[in-house]
Amino acid sequence: MAEATAEQLADTTINDAGIVPKAEFSDRVPINSIISRADGGSGLAGRKARVGGWVKTGRKADKDAFAFLELNDGSCPGNLQVIVEAGLVAGDLSQVVPTGTCVVVDGELKLPPEGAKQKVEVRAEKVVHVGPVDPAKYPLPKMRLTLEFLRDFVHLRSRTNTISSVARIRNALAYATHTFFQKHGFLYVHTPIITTSDCEGAGEMFQVTTLLSEAERLEKELVENPPPTEADVEAARAVVKEKGEIVSQLKSAKASKQEIGAAVDELKKSKDTLSKLEERSKLKPGIPKKDDGKVDYAKDFFARQAFLTVSGQLQVESYACALSSVYTFGPTFRAENSHTSRHLAEFWMVEPEIAFAELKDDMNCAEAYVKFLCQWLLDNCLEDMKFMADKFDKGCIDRLKMVASTPFVRVSYTEAVEILEEAVKNGKKFDNEVKWGIDLASEHERYITEVKFQKPVIVYNYPKEIKAFYMRLNDDSKTVAAMDVLVPKVGELIGGSQREERYDVIVQRIEEMGLPLEPYDWYLDLRRYGTVKHSGFGLGFERMILFATGLENIRDVIPFPRYPGRADL
Ligand code: 4AD
Ligand code: MG
Repeated sequence: MAEATAEQLADTTINDAGIVPKAEFSDRVPINSIISRADGGSGLAGRKARVGGWVKTGRKADKDAFAFLELNDGSCPGNLQVIVEAGLVAGDLSQVVPTGTCVVVDGELKLPPEGAKQKVEVRAEKVVHVGPVDPAKYPLPKMRLTLEFLRDFVHLRSRTNTISSVARIRNALAYATHTFFQKHGFLYVHTPIITTSDCEGAGEMFQVTTLLSEAERLEKELVENPPPTEADVEAARAVVKEKGEIVSQLKSAKASKQEIGAAVDELKKSKDTLSKLEERSKLKPGIPKKDDGKVDYAKDFFARQAFLTVSGQLQVESYACALSSVYTFGPTFRAENSHTSRHLAEFWMVEPEIAFAELKDDMNCAEAYVKFLCQWLLDNCLEDMKFMADKFDKGCIDRLKMVASTPFVRVSYTEAVEILEEAVKNGKKFDNEVKWGIDLASEHERYITEVKFQKPVIVYNYPKEIKAFYMRLNDDSKTVAAMDVLVPKVGELIGGSQREERYDVIVQRIEEMGLPLEPYDWYLDLRRYGTVKHSGFGLGFERMILFATGLENIRDVIPFPRYPGRADL
């Protein structure tokens, strides 16, 4: 994309009056539109531009007569060199050189001296803005910082080369995702984040409730304003009785309407007071419970138990069974206590769901989509990919090329287990035992994709015992039409299946798995009315970024990682 923008910019600048046009909606020329041009910006020499960014490195030169600043505005991995004369800065140049300082200047684009690395630089004519930094306090000094260290500064780490490259790659993959599915006629559906169905049936859901904060509020309130005692309530009852008697007496004494009316008002007031006292006397601190001692979710915000979704699949199926080809792309949440480099408690998933499609179509779609993502990065994000290759994973660009151009291997689960057994026979040691029926562990998945085939592998037809209730039972009654896409570096990137569309079979599967039928009743309606063969999958978006960039830890490829013990900001 950077190249295309540069070409477009070259066109738009031909007829202007020597000023490089600013970004729309922003008061500066994006640095990529200068230095990412095919000529590196040299063709713009002589023109004026306003540029802004954060100082990567700054130094003073010529006895403090000049400052050389490497400015980055996040529009590309590269920096723009800006030269600032001492007279332009109120105070002295020490203000603008610290790493992290924000600087905006108006200046002229110039060809640098012979032999310089950059193709163009800016000679400042006016300093428009300085957002200073106290270098003694700034948490991200110029030296190379570990990604682990940066996790303590998620609000500032986007200023670093690595995290900003990841942000651009992530953005490109999101754009590519919508492009791919829109191009193939899929409709984007927003599935709920708060749900009352457990899609995977694995009991790894975060609960959404206001019962705890309500209980705390009530507890505090009852301390400040204690509930009435039984004696208070009795006293109020006595007042009601007394006021009632007064009314009867006045009536039998044929008192005036006015007098009776006043007494009735008094009686009403005393009844109000009593009912308020009775109400408050029933307030009990703590979580509301039913008679059987269980939590009374009828008193909760949604009047039932609710959770953060683990997957939008079940809901998006209802749209697939009406609009045919759909996808959802949103955050999903899992309360699994995994401390691995491949798991997050909050991650993003891309989930297409296709009606009139069986497992083979599903695999074809997954393969085409992953290939498209890889080619997209090669076409649109090469500068950032080169940065990743240079700093983290030499092979990452070749890996994208290989995946974009090589057919994925497809093996059944049974064949995969045979491959692993063969490896064990030849001396390969795994921590987890290999035999038909096991859930493949990460080490097994990586052996298959990294060692055995050295390319993406789709494993299909898994034992029904280790997969979710909604997967279609195969004719052998032992396996289900599931598929996982395994890729080098990451292991499982995609999990998907053909869905069980036969009412009787799915009811039996839900029961077999010991799940309650009631919460899935709406889901069963999709099989009761107009059922259709359909399939879908979920791609772990962060796993895709890990795979593309070669970074080691999933916590570094999501802007604000959430994992056991951490949810900063
Ligand atoms: O295999 P999973 O659990 O499949 C589903 O949730 C299906 N309902 C998807 C569908 O068919 N629509 O998850 C799908 C993918 C995994 O292959 C993995 O890449 C990723 O989501 N994933 C995680 N990524 C990061 N952190 C976690 N805790 C993850 N759990 C799963
Ligand atoms: Mg899975």
